[in-house]
Amino acid sequence: AIPPFLWPVFAYLMGSISSAVIVSKLFRLDDPREVGSGNPGATNVLRSGSKAAAIVTLLGDVLKGVIPVLLAQYAGVSNGMLALVAIAAFMGHLFPIFFGFKGGKGVATAIGVYAALSWQLLAIFVLVWVATAALSRYSSLAALVASAVTGLASFAVFNQPDQLQLIGGVFWIVAFTFQRHKENIERLKAGTEGKIGQKK
Ligand code: G3P
Repeated sequence: AIPPFLWPVFAYLMGSISSAVIVSKLFRLDDPREVGSGNPGATNVLRSGSKAAAIVTLLGDVLKGVIPVLLAQYAGVSNGMLALVAIAAFMGHLFPIFFGFKGGKGVATAIGVYAALSWQLLAIFVLVWVATAALSRYSSLAALVASAVTGLASFAVFNQPDQLQLIGGVFWIVAFTFQRHKENIERLKAGTEGKIGQKK
């Protein structure tokens, strides 16, 4: 069997694969770290004008969260270890070892992690994201509202005593999601945040 400590290492390495950078190169688009918001994520790849590239980026970053968490779950690791695996995949996206530790904001990878942990968390995140995005047209605001609601919902979803660590994992991810959106929050307050698909 795989020694448990290798699961977070594997998750971190998976999280470190920047879909935005790789997909933009494949589609011959500008490096997302150098245009738009400078963020290597699907929202910023969409600003390049390629919906296909943005969708592939989104799927790639979601899968980085799904794969390690599902595999670890399948291997039967403890919930504490599962929370670490979830955190490690997410942190890989934020601090990727393959890209000078300069990563993205983690929203898509968080969605993947939530999906693998619980379909209810996934449903809540997606519903709140879509509703907020439809009303506001801001990807960042949608991510922030959905993250906050998902954090609160995790108390109801993980209501068994042995699931406390999973709540901890979700809160770690929510906290870093907010921290990573500091500049977006400033722009939202100033009214200068770009709407979805809008070039800036
Ligand atoms: O998912 C990232 C999104 O919330 C913000 O991206 O490029 O507008 O900073 P961006």
